[in-house]
Amino acid sequence: MRERPYTLLSCCVSIDGYIGKAASRLLLSNEADFDRVDAVRASCDAILVGAKTVRADNPRLLVRSEARREERTARGLPDSPVKVTVTRRAELDSRADFFNAGDAEKIVYCASPWAAAAQDRLGRVATVVDAGENVEMRMLSADLAARGIDRLMVEGGGTVHTQFLTEDIVDELQLTVAPIFVGDSEAPRFVRDGIFPWNPARRAELVDVQKLGDVVLLRYALSSRFRDQAGNGC
Ligand SMILES: NC(=O)c1ccc[n+]([C@@H]2O[C@H](COP(=O)([O-])OP(=O)(O)OC[C@H]3O[C@@H](n4cnc5c(N)ncnc54)[C@H](OP(=O)(O)O)[C@@H]3O)[C@@H](O)[C@H]2O)c1
Repeated sequence: MRERPYTLLSCCVSIDGYIGKAASRLLLSNEADFDRVDAVRASCDAILVGAKTVRADNPRLLVRSEARREERTARGLPDSPVKVTVTRRAELDSRADFFNAGDAEKIVYCASPWAAAAQDRLGRVATVVDAGENVEMRMLSADLAARGIDRLMVEGGGTVHTQFLTEDIVDELQLTVAPIFVGDSEAPRFVRDGIFPWNPARRAELVDVQKLGDVVLLRYALSSRFRDQAGNGC
């Protein structure tokens, strides 16, 4: 068993680096890219989003394509990946689609002070894990590995991205750039402030660029594990 899952961070940003609007959901990508993301989801064991994304977007996080769902069940997997979120305050609605759409397991990592409240609120619809005073993504990743998660997709938002990237536990970044500007510094960005391992002295390795209609997909290898993944072909 690996100490943590192969971790792929997937995000769509505006030209000016935002991932949403300040007060409402914003669909940045196009159908071709949504379908590509669906294929990536289908290839993963679990998908993780932050609690704010659960509250703001009410995402279902299911594999949309029937063929891909069938292919997963033929391999003995749930038709969509396990859903994972992380919260401190546990202010999550058990009626959210995150918890109710699909049959795969849902896991909530919660900081200790609110873990009992999370269990009361969400224990019926999810596995609640008391993840310590401060939830660290490296610890969370190790716990997912122990639960059999071998391939993890991180799908936002910026607070979660920042922690995975600054803790240097991302193997691959798939960044789609949509041809729009948001132009509002109150809106959420791809990442927040932090000390990132990639800088002028250690540049990230760009391994592929694809045009998908009006968006562009940039694929970066962020660790040596990238090349060990079957199908990466680099
Ligand atoms: N364009 C895209 O590809 C994309 C993808 C996903 C999301 N988004 C957008 O991103 C925005 C949300 O991003 P965001 O950065 O504001 O929030 P986020 O990363 O989705 O979630 C942040 C929340 O996660 C919990 N959390 C994060 N780190 C934690 C830790 N170490 N310990 C305990 N809890 C932790 C906290 O939840 P509590 O507040 O519950 O304590 C925190 O408020 C939304 O507007 C959404 O639409 C865009």
